[in-house]
Amino acid sequence: MNKWGKLSLGMLLAVGLLSGCGSNKNDNDSAATGNTNTGATKTLTMGTSADFPPYEFHKVVDGKDTIVGFDIDIAKDIAKDMGAELVIKDLPFDSLLNELSSGRVDIVISGLSPTEDRRKAVELSDIYYKADQAVVVREADKDKFATMDSLKNAKIGIQTGSIQEDIAKGIEGAKLTSLGKISEIILQLQSNRVDASIMEGPVAKAFVKNVPGLVITDAVPVVEDNGYVIGIKKGNTELLDKVNGTLTHLISEGKIEQYVTAASELSVSK
Ligand code: ARG
Repeated sequence: MNKWGKLSLGMLLAVGLLSGCGSNKNDNDSAATGNTNTGATKTLTMGTSADFPPYEFHKVVDGKDTIVGFDIDIAKDIAKDMGAELVIKDLPFDSLLNELSSGRVDIVISGLSPTEDRRKAVELSDIYYKADQAVVVREADKDKFATMDSLKNAKIGIQTGSIQEDIAKGIEGAKLTSLGKISEIILQLQSNRVDASIMEGPVAKAFVKNVPGLVITDAVPVVEDNGYVIGIKKGNTELLDKVNGTLTHLISEGKIEQYVTAASELSVSK
């Protein structure tokens, strides 16, 4: 492995570690402030899995580990429109909807795709952004995995509880490795333990820019539920309306596109 390979591995590990501490810290924060608004300041507690550049990811800003990304920008606007203070909880992706149903978080903004099952469990907002899926492999395998068909019998790494897990389950003979964090999947790819991974196009782009030796192939996984939505607890139509209200004005002002562009630039480590 070359110097950059090692460096990027180190970076990914650091990101993993940082997100670990982040979640503990945030857990305590929100336990202190709580979801019940007893004091003067209202809080809006957001659950997210901050392993997902440019949607939500950790970045050192002014020497401090910070969760940034276009989902975070959107969350800030929702909180602002509500006159509330935003509290971010970094949690495993597959725990997010449970956290919502049990009231430990008020909203889930995490590049969430609107599947039928999720729609049954929680309220889903209007779609605020759309993107395609992509397949990430090691550079040498780019041509080998140029079609979805070529992924038959391959070892595929995907995030636990994601729609990508469902896509991969539909690939004949594929051997799946489901992991909690995208950064862990990247490590598996780098160390030849999986051959391919399926992820959102913008996320794939962010990772291949930062991790030498990985590329996006020409294979395009097709999904029905393309587009991203915000999750709100079942029955909380008051908050749902507020969230949709903010999304409507952000979309009409062209703000989401701006946030995506800015977050994509931010996600390239210098
Ligand atoms: N869009 C996919 C889904 O809803 C993956 C989302 C993963 N998000 C994350 N922040 N890791 O299943």
